[in-house]
Amino acid sequence: MNNDAIGVFDSGMGGLTAVKELNRLLPNENIIYLGDTARVPYGSRSRETVMRYARQDAEFLRKHKIKMIIAACGTVSSVVGTKPFIEDMPFTGVILPAAQAACAATKNGRIGVIGTPATIRSGSYAKAIKSVNPHVSVIGNSCPLFVHLVENGYTDRGNKITRLAAEEYLEPIKAENVDTLILGCTHYPVIKDIISDVMGEKVTLISSGMEAAKYAHSCLFERDLLSDRTEMGKNIFYVSDSTELFKENAENFLGHPVEGEVFSCSLGE
Ligand code: DGL
Repeated sequence: MNNDAIGVFDSGMGGLTAVKELNRLLPNENIIYLGDTARVPYGSRSRETVMRYARQDAEFLRKHKIKMIIAACGTVSSVVGTKPFIEDMPFTGVILPAAQAACAATKNGRIGVIGTPATIRSGSYAKAIKSVNPHVSVIGNSCPLFVHLVENGYTDRGNKITRLAAEEYLEPIKAENVDTLILGCTHYPVIKDIISDVMGEKVTLISSGMEAAKYAHSCLFERDLLSDRTEMGKNIFYVSDSTELFKENAENFLGHPVEGEVFSCSLGE
């Protein structure tokens, strides 16, 4: 048993899709969330820069009493890959949990992956999927505009700009007849209705943030690190840009207004 918080970070607000699932699965746990909203997006930056930012984010979380770190960011998870990153406490990215869920979901053995340019370039999902099931075909495409559209609130199902971008990005994946699509960036579940409209209802969508949260649950359970708190846990949010902007847009990710304190912080240089 351990009553320390679970630390979660992302380049911006996408990691809130993991927080939402953690709150549902583990309502008695405290969560400390860090969104590097001043430097989002990470997905168009070099590996070196993403790695440096990821280290700074993890260092920030470590200043708090935490028992696990979740990199709720497809880009960070891809760049970290299998390199040693956090070794003194449980750590997960989003890639392997999402790959396992997609392999379990596919019936025709054809899985699509969408993510940021850095994520798709790294081939991280394809490698993880092949490690789970080498017989599955993987078709990936990057969707560079999605993060900007989501961070700016272009998220309602009828939004014409986001729909047009989705049609453009998803067309090559649809053409490959996939039956499962990994939303390989934690921002994308916020526009899952639009993505589903374009892909068709028969395609199963896998949320990488949600799968990472499920993985964290089983990881803490297996290590006997779950909290024994009987009252509801608390969320505390830190962001490197405006707290007001965060509160305005976070509702899109959480499905309800932010519950918990929001502080601003500075990271790295
Ligand atoms: N949430 C990040 C991810 O999952 C995307 C945002 C970014 O490019 O920083 O990749």
